[in-house]
Amino acid sequence: MPPIKIAPSLLSCDFANIAREVERVEAAGADLLHVDVMDGHFVPNLTIGPPVVAWIKKYATRPLDCHLMMTDPAQYIDAFADAGADIITIHVEATSPVKPTLERIRKRGLRCGVVLNPGTPIEAAEPFLAEIDMLLVMSVWPGFGGQSFIPGVLDKIKRARELAPQLDIEIDGGINDATARDAVDAGANVLVAGSYVFKARDLADPIKKLRAVR
Ligand code: DX5
Ligand code: ZN
Repeated sequence: MPPIKIAPSLLSCDFANIAREVERVEAAGADLLHVDVMDGHFVPNLTIGPPVVAWIKKYATRPLDCHLMMTDPAQYIDAFADAGADIITIHVEATSPVKPTLERIRKRGLRCGVVLNPGTPIEAAEPFLAEIDMLLVMSVWPGFGGQSFIPGVLDKIKRARELAPQLDIEIDGGINDATARDAVDAGANVLVAGSYVFKARDLADPIKKLRAVR
């Protein structure tokens, strides 16, 4: 299995001090910075757009892992690439055709991935496994931080790991040291965590605990 990577979700950070938060979470050991983009349509919440990603990029030294919870992500690939995204993941449930959108991400020189909602079976990602750098399995219904982990997705991760032994498999939603252990046992290696990381006084504590689950 590929190495464990910790991807704190900036959704739970203090946005009034974004530069300081980026520096703080990188110093604490983040491998990637997870950026939750919500369009108020695919999910009932609005968050971060390309201008804010560009501000984050000014301060980040780690790759920006942009999770596009958007109905039509294809329209925005260039905007996020220009803003400094390093990895872009798109939902298979979105309306943009998946394959051409992945190709567009690659053409911009970025890494690409697909995302599965908790109710979407692994079969929906199978046609793309050979051409993606990362598979993101949602362990909550997307839209908000701070929700509880849905254990029913663990079987999907196991199946994904069988199908793609070398692929980065990312898990997102309700991750803490206990749920991370279950996810890693099932085959996940990229751990997104928002509230669990940012509610700590010393961000290095939760990040160390997540890294230690394997
Ligand atoms: C949910 C987002 C997650 C969220 C995770 O829609 O995709 O990345 O920020 O937050 P926690 O770790 O608090 O569940
Ligand atoms: Zn996310």
